[in-house]
Amino acid sequence: MKEKNQVREHWGGSLGFILAAAGSAIGLGNLWKFPYVTGQNGGGAFILVYLLAVLVIGFPVMVCEIAIGRNAQSDPITAFQKLCPKKTGSTHMTGVLLLLAACGLFCFGKFGMSGLFFLIALVIFWYGWAAVGILSVVTPFFILSFYGTVGGWTIAYFFKGLFQQLNFTDPDSAKQVFDTFVATPSHGIFFQLLFTLTTGSVIWFGIKNGIELASKFLMPVLLIFILILIMRSVTLPGANAGISYLLTPDFSQITPHVFLSALGQAFFSLSLGMGAIMTYGSYLDSEKNILSSSLFIIVADTFFALLAGLAIFPAVMAMGMEPSAGPGLVFQVMPATFNSIGDHLGWLWSSIFFFLIFIAALTSAISIAEGCVTCLIDHFKFRRKTAVFWTILLVSVSGIFCTLSVTNWDRLPFLQRGLVWAFGSTNASLFDLMDQFSSNYMLPLGGLGTSLFVGWQWGMRYALTELRKGGSDVTDVNFFALLAGLKDDPLSKGTHSLTLALILGILIRFISPICVILVFLYNIGWLSLK
Ligand code: PHE
Repeated sequence: MKEKNQVREHWGGSLGFILAAAGSAIGLGNLWKFPYVTGQNGGGAFILVYLLAVLVIGFPVMVCEIAIGRNAQSDPITAFQKLCPKKTGSTHMTGVLLLLAACGLFCFGKFGMSGLFFLIALVIFWYGWAAVGILSVVTPFFILSFYGTVGGWTIAYFFKGLFQQLNFTDPDSAKQVFDTFVATPSHGIFFQLLFTLTTGSVIWFGIKNGIELASKFLMPVLLIFILILIMRSVTLPGANAGISYLLTPDFSQITPHVFLSALGQAFFSLSLGMGAIMTYGSYLDSEKNILSSSLFIIVADTFFALLAGLAIFPAVMAMGMEPSAGPGLVFQVMPATFNSIGDHLGWLWSSIFFFLIFIAALTSAISIAEGCVTCLIDHFKFRRKTAVFWTILLVSVSGIFCTLSVTNWDRLPFLQRGLVWAFGSTNASLFDLMDQFSSNYMLPLGGLGTSLFVGWQWGMRYALTELRKGGSDVTDVNFFALLAGLKDDPLSKGTHSLTLALILGILIRFISPICVILVFLYNIGWLSLK
């Protein structure tokens, strides 16, 4: 399996990296989750808080991930090992605390959680800080499983649209069609495998000829399609209500819960916390500017989430439908909305809409799988094709369980009984558990580990040296001079002024970890905010 003298592949150019990373960020998180989470959390108010989370936490963590990846020029596990070869006191202490917690949980009969804590403690003792990198091998199995299920639905719904099988105009018939579809396992599994195999076929060809080429072709298609849909949506009579719903913040809706949802959504949407962006950063060479690339990626991702809102809400409101319809918004309300327009082109709008989501999901799935593949290649010395084969095979198997569990647990009673025995009663399906567990626990934990590592272990000084490599001195100019367009004014430079470097350091060392810890405590139910 070992490949000798492997040369690490690099992106052909900045554009390739930026498009691939934007492709990773723009996905189901923007098109499927963002609209309904916005709908559930009060429209414009949620968007404001989301923007704050992206800027204050998303941006610094993304910069950290790219800096680690590029500096180490290797997969996430090896990267942490290279930057901190020894196990440290802090990792030993974390391991011991987790072991104690595992014992406590065992005594209270929480065998599943106890086993999980025990396992994590062992990984930390064994790998030290590189345990954060291990997440890039484990998290893909959680995210890609439900991602493959939803990705498969988008392919199926694209064809259903084309063959005029989505010509209902009320959400109730839409719900019936959707429920019948997901209750037929053979269909769900077929399309899920098609989606996963398509993902595998792109990464099979490596960075330049696979991921970069696909991103350069697919990302413009994505933009064109969403613009077409927005034009249709905002020109409907009554569309204004949707636009003002999206843009008018109602501050009474901003509760602590909205803050926490916004933070979780920002991590998921920006692809942070599982080494995907770190992996893409490791294929970047040192002339490229990390800060401007990160800024572009977060702006593109946020802009796209807003575009998705602009394609969806005006049409939904114009047709008198309910915007906060939950996860079914995309698969039920949208086809019904498109058919109600009355221009007899509902099938076309639906097909474009689902094709669009398919492309967005595909470019994200590619990055999730690549995180795992690169670990198998660099750390475990697999060949690329062998690594792709095993990743896709295992993800397909776990994905099949997810697809089977969507409607209820009836088809997987043994799995449900096992989970209930280990973790206590659960009503959520495996599909929901995978989604919640990865977004609420694994990604925030990965993000926390990354910012703590850069801020307190590797050190801001080294991270900054990496950021300065791209020929950029923006980190060291007075921040306000930068905003005022006085970057090159000699009098605006100064060692004691507020520079971007100082702001980034504070965000990375204090603000990001504290916010993520709060979210984490909230997610595990130890912090209740009313
Ligand atoms: N960012 C992707 C989306 O918005 C999901 C994702 C999460 C991709 C984590 C990679 C890593 O759908």
